[in-house]
Amino acid sequence: SQATIKFADGHEIPQVGLGVWQTPNDTADAAVQAALEAGYRHIDTAAIYGNEEGVGKGIKASGVDRKDIFLTTKLWNDEQGYDSTLKAFDASLKRLGTDYVDLYLIHWPSPHRELYLDTWKAFIKLKEEGQVKSIGVSNFCPEHLEKIIGETGVTPVINQVELHPDFQQTELRAFHEKHGIITQSWSPLGRGKLLEHSDVAAIARKHGRTAAQVVIRWHMDQGLVVIPKSANPDRIKQNFQVFDFKLDADDMATLAKLDDTGNRMGPDPMTADF
Ligand code: A2P
Repeated sequence: SQATIKFADGHEIPQVGLGVWQTPNDTADAAVQAALEAGYRHIDTAAIYGNEEGVGKGIKASGVDRKDIFLTTKLWNDEQGYDSTLKAFDASLKRLGTDYVDLYLIHWPSPHRELYLDTWKAFIKLKEEGQVKSIGVSNFCPEHLEKIIGETGVTPVINQVELHPDFQQTELRAFHEKHGIITQSWSPLGRGKLLEHSDVAAIARKHGRTAAQVVIRWHMDQGLVVIPKSANPDRIKQNFQVFDFKLDADDMATLAKLDDTGNRMGPDPMTADF
């Protein structure tokens, strides 16, 4: 059965979720249904993905109780600011067809806008009102985290960042640990690129598993929350068959060596100007 990770605010998040970045709105419905049928109870979307309606439809059509599903969405950068955040959140809820989300994230700090602190204050209000069970951030660096924690006294429960075996975010994870922040991995499979790596392939052969399952297991074995993206029902199913094996110390040592801070695939949050 699946594992959950406990937040500092007392809520729990299923460790493996379905990512839907780049899943079109009209296929998100089927992807979410396939995931819920395979046993997933955690779906991760965002306003900017343009598929919140499809995700909401998939949840409804699945017949799984809303309260048994952990649903995350994210506030897009151009809606940052106190009032605009509250408005954007309502629009997300409408598109999702639900009256609460389990986790709401500030998608990027977008430091050039100088609005992420005001945005965080709106998030605190949404949590107080109960429309959001837990509040967190995505792509935040230590200085952004320090600012919102210092100014509000409220620590995000989670920071969702780019993280895969060849880009392990060791320093940031140490910072999170000090502050009781859970780390969540986006592009956990390195956008699929890592699955070709010969070391990963060798470990997969050894366990009679696929490369994707090995990489997902690597995230799990380090206490990370992981959201592999697939729009393909077979791969969605495959990516959830990860609860009945474990990597050994040799595997972990091999994968630890793949780490290289030069392997970031997405934008650097410090300099991203969107
Ligand atoms: P697809 O949606 O066609 O399955 P990440 O989560 O790191 O961003 O990786 C997502 C990419 O990896 C997508 O291109 C996805 O393609 C592919 N992918 C996801 N799961 C698997 C799998 N089990 N085997 C091979 N490719 C996969």
